[in-house]
Formats: sequence, structure tokens, C-alpha cells
Amino acid sequence: MSANESPSGKHPTATSEAVRDSAFLKACRREPVPHTPVWFMRQAGRSLPEYRKVREGIPMLESCMRPELVTEITLQPVRRHNVDAAIFFSDIVVPLKAIGIDLDIKPGVGPVVENPVRTRADLARLRDLTPEDVSYVTEAIGLLTRELGATPLIGFAGAPFTLASYLVEGGPSRTYENAKAIMYGDPGLWADLLDRLADITAAFLKVQIEAGACAVQLFDSWAGALSPADYRHSVMPASAKVFQAVAGYGVPRIHFGVGTGELLGLMGEAGADVVGVDWRVPLDEAARRVGPGKALQGNLDPTVLFSTREAVETKTREVLDAAAGLEGHVFNLGHGVMPATDPDALTRLVDHVHTLTAR
Ligand code: CP3
Repeated sequence: MSANESPSGKHPTATSEAVRDSAFLKACRREPVPHTPVWFMRQAGRSLPEYRKVREGIPMLESCMRPELVTEITLQPVRRHNVDAAIFFSDIVVPLKAIGIDLDIKPGVGPVVENPVRTRADLARLRDLTPEDVSYVTEAIGLLTRELGATPLIGFAGAPFTLASYLVEGGPSRTYENAKAIMYGDPGLWADLLDRLADITAAFLKVQIEAGACAVQLFDSWAGALSPADYRHSVMPASAKVFQAVAGYGVPRIHFGVGTGELLGLMGEAGADVVGVDWRVPLDEAARRVGPGKALQGNLDPTVLFSTREAVETKTREVLDAAAGLEGHVFNLGHGVMPATDPDALTRLVDHVHTLTAR
């Protein structure tokens, strides 16, 4: 199989030579880079006035199903900030909506599921995802890769645990008590639920890679709620199944969660090429926890951007100093851009990292 061919053999993946030689993909592969690449989780979104303008009157999930709108929103931060990668505009619950789960994204709240999934009978509602279910994703990525030129496009999905947390709780939670009740009380049902979600997630990532995404990020945003033993036993097998399912494409696989300092080694072991780190663990310490053979992504505290220019520069330098000995480093925030962030502070940050790290 050539590097340009998909494992299914049906579609050549659209990664051009210029994209393969980008600083972002080089850093993911732990190769020398011209400068440390930068992108931001949630770089497309409410921090940008041009986003708020095009989204006016269009519900979040509907906007994810309109290819021209998805293309425009994905490109907005690339135009404005000179970031080294674009992230596909969608949401982690889009594949669940696409297979008919009755859910919505409520503004200021997050995903809300009308009828939570809590019994074995409920599992039957989680059918397989086919490419036809998300044809708008294929169409949007086709449009995007043409517009992006040499800028790499990152595809993404929610990891089985984080998706399960919304499905079982019925919405955002701080404690995950209903999900953990199943995890501890009915481990067979829990394993089957996460395995179903792993298949759906893998199918969603494959659609994005086959359409032209040249890296993928698995968001296990809420895995930090778990102890290492519970993570290893009850969650890691499903996330590992997702990574394994897309291994044959040869695109870098990024694995990210919040508050996952104690899980970093396991999150690498699950099958990631790049481990995302929030701001709680310095990158040199994170590298010790992850071990050799993986790049790291992170990890400026997103709230730092609300402080003075001097403070942003000091904290940025701290991140870069801690990253100095890494095999590969992709600069990012430790979690998503907060909606009230001044977009100009993000533009300055990209420029600052590029200048400080130019080789
Ligand atoms: O720029 C990008 O990063 C790409 C777009 C993206 C969105 N959601 C768009 C979005 C990505 C990568 C996500 C992932 C996502 N969605 C995660 C994992 C990342 C993380 O933050 O940990 C999670 C947990 C979700 C679930 C979700 N969807 C939440 C918690 C919310 C916020 C609710 C709110 O209004 O505060 C959403 C909605 C959402 N997804 C918005 C955006 C831009 C805001 C809705 C809007 O703009 O109207």
C-alpha cells in the first residue's frame, strides 16, 4: 500500500506533498521543524465576530450539516491567525445525531440527550454509522481541502467514554454518577456500550480521513474523572479499538483529555502518536509520563489569554522551555479557546511562538 492509498483501496487520501511537509505533520512525526507549529482547540467558534455573524439564527447541529458554512467557519481562524492547521468544524455528538439519537446542543449548556442510554434495550438504538449518514462531512472536507492548500486539516471525534458520559447522563455532568453506576455495577453492559461507541467513532474518523483529513484527534475530554485503574480496565480497550481501526491510514493520531495528568502514559499506550496535555502538568514532566516515541501537544492555560501581553509572553516562554527537549511538540492551549477570548491575543500568540522557535 502506498502512503497515498487508503486501507480500503477505494479512495486515495488527498494529502498532498506540501501538506505532508507541513510543520504540523513534521512535528507529529517527530521530525525537525522550521518552527513549532501552532493551532488551537476550538479555534473556530464564538471568540470570532465573523463566526457569530455567519452562525446567526442557525442552530449548532444544523450548521454542522451545511458544507459551505462548515467550510467558511473552518477557514476563518486560518485566515485570521495564521495557525499551522485547521480543525474541521463539527461536534463530537454529530455522529450520534446522524444515527438517529434524539439529542440537541443547547447554547451555553452543551449536548442534551432526550432519552438517555442506560439499559441493554437502549443499546439497540446505537446502530452502525455509514458514510451516507454523514455525506455532508465528506462534502465539506472535499471543499475544504481544495481551499486549504498546504494547510493540514485535522479531523476529530469524541472518545467512547466522553460520548458515553453525555449519552448516559443525558447532558453535561460534573460527577458522571449514572455512567459510573453502570461501569461499576454492570460491567458487561458498560463494555458493550463503549464497544458500540468505538465502532461508531472509528467509522466517523474513517469518513474524515478518506475525505482528506490528514490527522485525527480523539477528544476524551472528561476521562480525567477516572482513576488510572478504572481507565485502563473500563475505557482504554474501547479507545484503543478506535486508534487501531485507523492505524492503517498512517495519519497522526492525537489523544487529548482534561485533567488527565495521571492518565498520560495510558493515553499514549492506547495507540496515540501525539498526546495532548492540559496546563496542569508541565510538558517535560508529561514527556516522562508518556515515555519515548510520541510527540506532545499543548499546553498554555487558556485563561492566560485574559491577562497582560507580558504575562502571555512569560507563560508562553515557560511552555516552550518545558518543551525544549521533546521529540516533537505541537503548541496548543491546554483546553479549548474560551468564547470571551480577544481574537487579537490569539493572533499575537501564534506570531510569538513562530518567532521564538524559528530555526
Ligand atoms: O474549532 C474547533 O475546535 C472545532 C469545532 C469543535 C466544536 N466542538 C464546535 C462547537 C470541536 C473540536 C468540538 C468538540 C467538543 N464538543 C468537545 C471536545 C472538546 C472539548 O472542549 O473538550 C466536547 C466536550 C463537545 C461537546 C460540546 N459541544 C460542548 C461542551 C459545547 C459547548 C456548549 C456551550 O454553548 O458552551 C458544544 C457546542 C459547541 N461545539 C460550540 C462549538 C463552536 C458552541 C456552540 C455555538 O457556537 O453556538
